[in-house]
Amino acid sequence: MHKKLGVNIDHVATVRQARRGTSPDPVTAAGIAEMNGADGITVHLREDRRHIQDRDLAVLKQVVKTRINLEMAATKEMVGIATDILPFSSTLVPEKREEITTEGGLDVLGQREAIHGTVSRLQEAGILVSLFIDPDLAQVRAAKHTGADAVEIHTGEYCNAFQGGRTEKQFGKIRSAAAYGRNIGLRVFAGHGLDLRNIVPILSLPEIEEFNIGHSIIARAVFVGLGQAVREMADLIHGR
Ligand code: PXP
Repeated sequence: MHKKLGVNIDHVATVRQARRGTSPDPVTAAGIAEMNGADGITVHLREDRRHIQDRDLAVLKQVVKTRINLEMAATKEMVGIATDILPFSSTLVPEKREEITTEGGLDVLGQREAIHGTVSRLQEAGILVSLFIDPDLAQVRAAKHTGADAVEIHTGEYCNAFQGGRTEKQFGKIRSAAAYGRNIGLRVFAGHGLDLRNIVPILSLPEIEEFNIGHSIIARAVFVGLGQAVREMADLIHGR
C-alpha cells in the first residue's frame, strides 16, 4: 500500500506569530511541501489561535492542491468552521489551553455520545473523520462505535521511549491498536513526535496508511530548507 505523508505546517505559523507579522507564511510552506512530495497538508486551528489563523485556513482551502486535514477540538465553533471550509478530513483532538502541544489522545470512551454527534455532523458535510487516540484497544473500539472513518494513533509515548532506547512496550501497543483498528474496519493513521529515525519501525506496520508530521520536519527545515526536509521524509514514507 502506498503510505502517505501529511505535513503539519503549524510551526511555520508559530514563528510568524512570534512577531504577529506576515512571515514566514504557512501558505507558502504548504506549496513547498506539496512540491516536495507531501500528500496532504495538516493544520490545527486551535481555540486560542496561537499559530494557524482562520484566514490561513481559508487561503489554504483555495490553494492546496493535495488535501487539507484539519485538526480540531470537537466544539461547536470548530464544527461550524469545518463545515464551512470543508477540508478533506478532520481529525478530532483534545485541546487544553495550557498545553504546549496535544498531549494525550482523545478520551472517546468517556464521551462517546458527544463525539458521535460531532462525527455525524462532519460526515454529513462530506468530511472524512479521524479520531486522535492513544494506542489503547478500548479507545479504538469506542472510536468505531462513534462511526468515525479512521483513527490516528498517538505515537508520542513511543517516540519518548525511542529516545531512551526502550521501545518494545510502546511499539507493541501501536502494533496491536493498528491491527485491531484495521480488523474492525477503521482506517489507521499515526502521528506525533515522529522523525526520520523513530518512524522506521512504525513504517513496517502495514495497517498504518498515513502519517501526520510537523515538528521534526519544520525543525530540520531551519537547517536544510523546507523542501529538502519534506523530501527526505516523503521519500522514506514512500519507500524511495
Ligand atoms: N497529529 C496530531 C493529531 C497532532 O495533534 C500533531 C501535533 O499538532 C501531530 C500529528 C504532529 O505532531 P508533531 O508536530 O510532533 O510531528
